[in-house]
Amino acid sequence: MATVTYQGLEVLFTRQQIAARVAEMGAQITRDLNGEKLVMVGVLKGAAPFLSDLARSIQADATFDFVAVSSYGNGQRSSGAVKLIKDLDEPIEGKNVLVVEDILDTGLTLAYLRKLFLQQRPKTLRIATLLDKPSRRIEKIDADYVGFSIPNLFVIGYGMDYAERYRNLPDICIMTPGQPE
Ligand code: IMP
Ligand code: MG
Repeated sequence: MATVTYQGLEVLFTRQQIAARVAEMGAQITRDLNGEKLVMVGVLKGAAPFLSDLARSIQADATFDFVAVSSYGNGQRSSGAVKLIKDLDEPIEGKNVLVVEDILDTGLTLAYLRKLFLQQRPKTLRIATLLDKPSRRIEKIDADYVGFSIPNLFVIGYGMDYAERYRNLPDICIMTPGQPE
C-alpha cells in the first residue's frame, strides 16, 4: 500500500513503522510482566490510539483505565501547569501499573502523574511513551519503554494534535511553524 502524503505535512513515521515498533514494545512489556496482571493507564486524549495498539500486542491479563490532564494550551506552547481533569476509576494499590503516554516532552505531565500514582502504592509503576523529546526536558523523568526518540519537532497524528486537530492521521507527521492550517 502506498504511503499517504498530506498537503504540507512531512511524514516522520509511517503507520508501518509505528506498528512494527509498537509490536516490539508489547513483546518487551509482556516479557517484563512475567505472567503477572497489568493495569494500563492511558493519558487522554493523545495516548488513545497508542494504548489501543499496544494493548493488543501485550499478552497478559490486562485492564484499562484513563486519566485526563491539561498541560498544554490550545496550541504548541505549554502553560507549565498540570491539572488533573479526570482521575482513575479504580484504585491501583498493589497493582502493576503501566502509564501509557503519546509523547514525553518537558516531563511535567508524567512527573505530576508519577507522583500522584505513587501515593497510591502500586506494586510497580512503569511508563510507556511512543515518542520522547529528551532535549525538551524540564522535569527529570525517563520512560521505561520508548518507541522513538526524536529531536525538538512538533508532531501530529496517531493521537497527537495541534489545537485538537489531526489526531486521526494514521501516520506521525511534522508540523512546521507557520505552515497553513
Ligand atoms: P509534557 O508535559 O511537556 O511532557 O507534555 C506532554 C504532553 O504535551 C503530551 O502528552 C502531548 O499531549 C503534548 N505534546 C508535547 N509535544 C507535542 C507535540 O510535538 N505534538 C503534540 N502534542 C505534544
Ligand atoms: Mg497528551
